[in-house]
Amino acid sequence: MSLIKEQDYGTPARSGEATVAVEIDGKQVRVPEGTSVLRAASECGIDIPKLCATDSLEPFGSCRMCLVDIDGRKGSPASCTTPVAEGMKVRTQTPELAELRRGVMELYISDHPLDCLTCPANGDCKLQDMAGQVGLREVRYGFDGENHLDLPTDSTNPYFDFDASKCIACSRCVRACGEVQGTFALTIEGRGFDSKVAAGAGGTFMESDCVSCGACVQACPTSTLQERSVVELGMPNRTVLTTCAYCGVGCSFKAELRGDEVVRMVPYKDGKANEGHSCVKGRFAFGYASHPDRQLKPMVRERITDPWREVEWEEAIGHVARRMLEIQARHGAGAIGGISSSRCTNEEVYVVQKMVRAAFGNNNVDTCARVCHSPTGYGLKQTYGTSAGTQDFKSVEKADVILLIGANPTDAHPVFASRIKRRLRQGAKIIVADPRRIDLVKSPHVQAEHHLRVRPGTNVALINAMSHVVVTEGLVDREFVAERCEDFADWERFISAPEHSPEAVEEITGIPAAELRAATRLYASAGNATIMYGLGVTEHSQGSTMVMGMANLAMATGNIGREGVGVNPLRGQNNVQGSCDMGSFPHELPGYRHVSDDVVRGTFETLWGRVLDPEPGLRIPNMFDAAIDGTFLGLFVQGEDIAQSDPNTKHVTAALSAMELVVVQDLFLNETSKFAHVFLPGTSFLEKNGTFTNAERRINRVRPVMAPKTGKHEWEIVCEIAQAMGYPMKYDDSAQIMDEIAMTTPTFAGVSFAKLDEVGSVQWPCDDAAPEGTPIMHIDGFVRGRGRFVLTDYVPTQERGTRKFPLILTTGRILSQYNVGAQTRRTGNTAWHPEDVLEMHPHDAEVRGIRDGDTVALTSRVGETGLRVKIDDRMPVGVVYTTFHHPVTGANVVTTENSDWATNCPEYKVTAVQVTLRHPAPAGMV
Ligand code: SF4
Ligand code: SF4
Ligand code: SF4
Ligand code: FES
Repeated sequence: MSLIKEQDYGTPARSGEATVAVEIDGKQVRVPEGTSVLRAASECGIDIPKLCATDSLEPFGSCRMCLVDIDGRKGSPASCTTPVAEGMKVRTQTPELAELRRGVMELYISDHPLDCLTCPANGDCKLQDMAGQVGLREVRYGFDGENHLDLPTDSTNPYFDFDASKCIACSRCVRACGEVQGTFALTIEGRGFDSKVAAGAGGTFMESDCVSCGACVQACPTSTLQERSVVELGMPNRTVLTTCAYCGVGCSFKAELRGDEVVRMVPYKDGKANEGHSCVKGRFAFGYASHPDRQLKPMVRERITDPWREVEWEEAIGHVARRMLEIQARHGAGAIGGISSSRCTNEEVYVVQKMVRAAFGNNNVDTCARVCHSPTGYGLKQTYGTSAGTQDFKSVEKADVILLIGANPTDAHPVFASRIKRRLRQGAKIIVADPRRIDLVKSPHVQAEHHLRVRPGTNVALINAMSHVVVTEGLVDREFVAERCEDFADWERFISAPEHSPEAVEEITGIPAAELRAATRLYASAGNATIMYGLGVTEHSQGSTMVMGMANLAMATGNIGREGVGVNPLRGQNNVQGSCDMGSFPHELPGYRHVSDDVVRGTFETLWGRVLDPEPGLRIPNMFDAAIDGTFLGLFVQGEDIAQSDPNTKHVTAALSAMELVVVQDLFLNETSKFAHVFLPGTSFLEKNGTFTNAERRINRVRPVMAPKTGKHEWEIVCEIAQAMGYPMKYDDSAQIMDEIAMTTPTFAGVSFAKLDEVGSVQWPCDDAAPEGTPIMHIDGFVRGRGRFVLTDYVPTQERGTRKFPLILTTGRILSQYNVGAQTRRTGNTAWHPEDVLEMHPHDAEVRGIRDGDTVALTSRVGETGLRVKIDDRMPVGVVYTTFHHPVTGANVVTTENSDWATNCPEYKVTAVQVTLRHPAPAGMV
């Protein structure tokens, strides 16, 4: 595909039913009320020159390039700041206007370096375009006057430069940082001729609050803000539309290439999840795909103490098949299994579960969602009948109150966080339930109405108390409940009991009763209230109970089934929704249908030509236990570093060491591959051809930018292993795999690569009833018929602070790194987060004699690790926090095997620990 250049309409689209008819240069056009003249002209094919206007930003009216004449109006108003009016007659091209525009351009050009031919933006510069468009032939002011040509370049950001000498002070970058990203890191300092862009308080980009989202680079009309990759590699000349492979927001990108080399990733305006915005990971951190650490050849070894031996694909695949069959012959069909990856495409995941079920002959397949959002699947299925969030991201634009629980979107789901922040600036309110004071509690232009500093492990007591207030203060939406729900009376009796009152649980949750009551009243009496949540909900021993508790609260207040409301998991990995949809759990076939269902199993048996096991298989923790017991000996691990990401590392590594065959399919040798006998090199997202499903159930295309560097697609490898084990499994391409998914899985019935190429993306269910997909679920009724109220007893976790381990450790993510860091640690992102640190309240530090920067021992009852301390009062007293991005820290060495009662999701968020000083920080660090 040649380079895609999206049309810039100059100002944002306006929505609304009322329209206005105007005439521009003799052309009639009808546009929504509030549309600018500049945009109306652009929509009917008339391109008015512009510099300070772009359609991702509200009009500003500073450059005076877009002047027009309007019948009956004096002077020549700026078309970007002038809204259309009924019957308006506009002229965009007259000799007088041309003269005015040329005059403006002369001023700009007289203070601009004349290095177009060597400028990296040559051919992609709005200033250059405008000079051509207005027919600039001379600069009457000359080039010798006062100018900015000696201003320095700020190269502190690892990915882009700020060459101040080229700045035309249009303020697009400043406005993008505020309006699009919501960080407000940039300002225009000074006035008139002295105006200049400043990052933070006049320092560098790296010293400022900049989070390197790239919105300013995107908005800059000149090469003042320019990706360094463009400077180094030259302007790209072709585009491939694809999807970010980091988080569950699922941003669409234009991969822009020069030849076969990716020059830059540019967020795609038509991408429905991101609408042209990005974060530092998707925008800039793609270099890992060509990192020299990547292993591109298969490798085999007999024992994990042997050196690796590079082999051809045929030998590696034959070795895996032979050893798996040998294990089954000696220990039975159930002695082997597989783990699928939420990093991989739907098609790659589908073939893994098919291989396990049809070729291995058991249901021993699980996925990394086990350790993150399995309680979401369980809880929402029990209450609403479907294992997924209820809304699309855009829905938040209609929310009046956002209840955010156990999620930190500005770090983990940054592009969605920007949408939330925009909605807050428009007047919506936010309630944050989180032990830490995250950015959405307080940051520029953000101030939460309530910060409920819930003690780790007590979420269910919190949500029950909120529901108690709703029921006892007359805040129930009785009509909604009567029409749409069941089992309400029992639940009402249960939740009204005094032990659920805010006063009764104040001691447990740590939240003052009056504050909890006020927050609940705000949520329950909002026009539209929405719940967003993350792993701070699910990764608990009562994760599933909490999901059902939130579902109860939303139903009781009628906040389900329309825009602006709902219960929405913010999924961590790019395809965690998809890997669950594809039947990666040991009890469910694709589409969340139980393996014991004869009809469903029959569909697959007919198509796959094998009798399938009606009994659920082993979950990941059961696989580990069985390995230690000597009954589970062969494991295929697709793209997941379980030795680093799963809890209680000692237990995991003991299990892996006990197995006879561990097969790892991944990009890099990792912690798990230390225990592997076969390493099968995987493909990066730039080589994949398939689909990812994001947190809003949106199925996005992932298109290959290049052929697999390993010589094989991951789905081909899985098919070849199955075939070598005697099960015929073959597809011509990944589109054919999606066709099989659509054929077998009702919620995907209308999905095909051709459909996605035509419409961009769809949200499942996508079928005959909803051929374009389903943005909002449960509109006319719940998927299960009636929404079910479930009793949610609060059962305290067994993990408590003791004298020996008096602090509670909770874990999370940071913006610049991603999960176990295998990708982001191999990019420039390490500039922001070179190591995991332990955040600690000043009081907890002081009583232990610990200072900022000291190295401490972090000890729990299962293990110990060491890391540096960051003293921060955004932590509450008694709680410490760290991330898990660096293997050297091994944060999961200390996390325990406690897990959710329903799904075994580990209780990462609550570990009793002690922190003791190991080494004081070197002088100068404190
Ligand atoms: S990169 Fe993003 S956060 Fe940084 S200054 Fe630009 S817009 Fe603001
Ligand atoms: S850096 Fe670019 S966007 Fe910002 S004011 Fe200068 S020219 Fe405009
Ligand atoms: S928000 Fe998520 S999907 Fe979007 S660019 Fe960032 S990491 Fe990628
Ligand atoms: S584009 Fe309208 S004033 Fe700059």
